[in-house]
Amino acid sequence: MINKSGRYHALVTAAKKAKLKAYAPYSNFRVGAAIRTKQGRVYTGCNIENSSYGLTICAERIAIFKAISEGEKEFTAIAVASDDADFCPPCGACRQVLMDLAPGVDFVMINSKGQEKVVTLSELFPYPFGPDHLPHRRKNG
Ligand code: THU
Repeated sequence: MINKSGRYHALVTAAKKAKLKAYAPYSNFRVGAAIRTKQGRVYTGCNIENSSYGLTICAERIAIFKAISEGEKEFTAIAVASDDADFCPPCGACRQVLMDLAPGVDFVMINSKGQEKVVTLSELFPYPFGPDHLPHRRKNG
């Protein structure tokens, strides 16, 4: 749903600011992300492209990997901003990474018109592969 509550105001501002750091000379599609921890800390990321295109990393993964590398383990929301009038949903690779590392997050999309749309990661990725599918990691039998 379109969010008008202002609940994610700080996170949205951080994602928009992170977008300005995007390194996207091949697609010219700038993306910024900001992820919030349970304790309220915010880590940002932008997309970083590569001349070998497949090595490009999305803003969402940069943000969560930065957070994880600083020892963070629990997350509540991630906001993503682009310059497009449409909302920018995460790619499949980012959905998988977020589901493994931040399964309960709200995903806040921000378009160029300044609108926000909030969905849960479970709505974006309803039938995921996860650690429980690896027999040696299964918790219940
Ligand atoms: N991209 C992101 O950073 N996040 C998304 O949610 C969608 C796509 C980037 C990857 C690439 O640098 C550019 O946008 C075009 O696909």
